[in-house]
Amino acid sequence: MTAKYGRSPLWTYNNQANVVEHVPGDLHGFKSGAVNYKLALWDPRANGVRYLKALIYHLASGLDEANLTRLRAIRNREVGDPISVRCHGEPVCMDYLQATFELAFLGKHVDLDGCAVLEIGAGYGRTCHAVLSNHDVASYTIVDLPNSLALAEDYLRQVLDDERFAKIRFVLADNADELYTEPVFDLCVNIDSFAEMDETTVRNYLALIADRCRRLYVNNPVAKYLDKSLDDHAQGDDVVQLALQTGLLRDVIDVHDSDAIEGQVGAFTDAYRPDGSWELVEVAPVVPWSYYRQALYQRTGAA
Ligand SMILES: C[S@@+](CC[C@H](N)C(=O)[O-])C[C@H]1O[C@@H](n2cnc3c(N)ncnc32)[C@H](O)[C@@H]1O
Repeated sequence: MTAKYGRSPLWTYNNQANVVEHVPGDLHGFKSGAVNYKLALWDPRANGVRYLKALIYHLASGLDEANLTRLRAIRNREVGDPISVRCHGEPVCMDYLQATFELAFLGKHVDLDGCAVLEIGAGYGRTCHAVLSNHDVASYTIVDLPNSLALAEDYLRQVLDDERFAKIRFVLADNADELYTEPVFDLCVNIDSFAEMDETTVRNYLALIADRCRRLYVNNPVAKYLDKSLDDHAQGDDVVQLALQTGLLRDVIDVHDSDAIEGQVGAFTDAYRPDGSWELVEVAPVVPWSYYRQALYQRTGAA
């Protein structure tokens, strides 16, 4: 017979499996283990998608009118089946939320209409998609490795109309030196990509930018991390070692310690200044990743 205020079958199970009989005095680790994963928190190892969706939902519900307008202007965001939530009547995924925030930062300083844009390391092309959907740029040149470049070309052809797609030029990284003989770009963009290249490669790109661009927008990590609890080093220790060797900023810090992050920001802004004749316009935090910073530089006199 069921007791008046007794356990449901679910809690009969929980009391056997997780929230078992408490041993007085034993509180060690209970908040980050099976007990609390049935009391106040979901197990983050099994609930990654839930936490991602919660984060997207939270950020999307806080979008202001200007950012909602930017996001809505980007059509066909569901191509490729992203992990999305629905908010303000819109499907929203993390990639385009970030693109929206990036556009907002850039928009404070640069009028992109009429600009010739160069992007180094574009991934599948979300930034190009966002920029071309919101601005009447003169041209958009993507430099990348062959595999990403082919994906970006295919994706952007599908999500953009013919007129916008015609503004894009796809350049293999091996051919990037051909840009030295061409007209200057108003803006170069690098998001989450310099930090994954060999140091010499980044320095070669910065030299190209110093010579052929008027402004540079970078959005990258300020340091490396080694906290195995974040990803269980799921790709293996060898890949972790590869990641520790790339980029200009290789100090290992706790990327969820605000003091440690702030301590790296000066090194970040120094590292990405293309040369001594360029000035830093603004450096700012990046939503949602604690240890990323975005910065805009311009050649002195380029404003
Ligand atoms: C983590 S993805 C970031 C993609 C995109 N910027 C974004 O934020 O969605 C890194 C990108 O850098 C590109 N990349 C890596 N090494 C490169 C190199 N040497 N030259 C140009 N692109 C490179 C990769 O192919 C990829 O497109």
